Amino acid sequence: MNTESIKNKIFELKKEKNAIILAHNYVLGEVQEVADFCGDSLELSRKAADIPEKVIVFAGVKFMAETAKILSPEKTVLHPVKESGCPMADMASSAELKEFKKKYPGAVAVCYVNSTADLKTEVDICCTSGNAEKITAGIPVNKQIIFLPDKNLGANIAKKLNREMILWDGFCPTHMRITSEMIERKGKEFPDAETVVHLECLPEVVDMADAALSTSGMLRYVRESEAKQFIIGTEIGMIYRLQKENPEKQFIPISEQAVCMNMKMIELEDILYSLENMQYKIELDEQTIKNAKRPILKMLE
Ligand code: 13P
Ligand code: SF4
Repeated sequence: MNTESIKNKIFELKKEKNAIILAHNYVLGEVQEVADFCGDSLELSRKAADIPEKVIVFAGVKFMAETAKILSPEKTVLHPVKESGCPMADMASSAELKEFKKKYPGAVAVCYVNSTADLKTEVDICCTSGNAEKITAGIPVNKQIIFLPDKNLGANIAKKLNREMILWDGFCPTHMRITSEMIERKGKEFPDAETVVHLECLPEVVDMADAALSTSGMLRYVRESEAKQFIIGTEIGMIYRLQKENPEKQFIPISEQAVCMNMKMIELEDILYSLENMQYKIELDEQTIKNAKRPILKMLE
């Protein structure tokens, strides 16, 4: 089947099954093209909570599909490639956190949404890169904060708020590949460009950038900026949407190596098979849904 026939079949099945396709900003361009909605983690979780469709096909890594299921347990949430996970999410479990919390009685556990459903059952509130600053700022100053699993996001927010936080030792391998030397080198090569990076980057990288944001925050920033060239410090898939929405501007990826293989596993054919065979259904037990929902709803309030 050629690309056009696959796309047509997807649109047909979507209608027939009353399904909606949600996609993260990092997935392949061809997958973004068939999605009803593309966004960052915060926008996608809001969307998943609101839509009337009974079936959600989630083109993103597993924790994103799990979040959709937690928010809409009555819906069928399909994750087209079940191996597509987030290595950072797997760096913290509820059992480990339970043990860790014993050292910090009374501390508030703030959990980046890039985490497993299991971890979410043990935390106080979730955040995304789009709202981490606001969520953390809302925690009373007399409380200690355990921030997990991303130590870089945690350190970047702690610096912005000038507040000490206890950081879990997790990180995103894709964003860890972006170095301050790369920022310096690209900056010299493109002196008129603005540098925009993701908040998951190392603090020294964030310090050198003009802005550090979530993926959709980057889209907004670029739209509003007068600059014509941008050095982009995040997963390479972001360039597709930035370029599509801003054809008159130039986007320079900080590194061709900044690839999240998990996001790239999801291909157009997988979306088709997913709809055809109603696979792979996200299944979470009732108790996990109940306990993991609490910190997510607290974030969305
Ligand atoms: P955003 O919420 O900024 O889209 O980030 C998700 C992600 O996985 C970044 O690595
Ligand atoms: Fe996880 Fe990093 Fe991939 Fe985002 S880019 S899904 S944080 S591994």
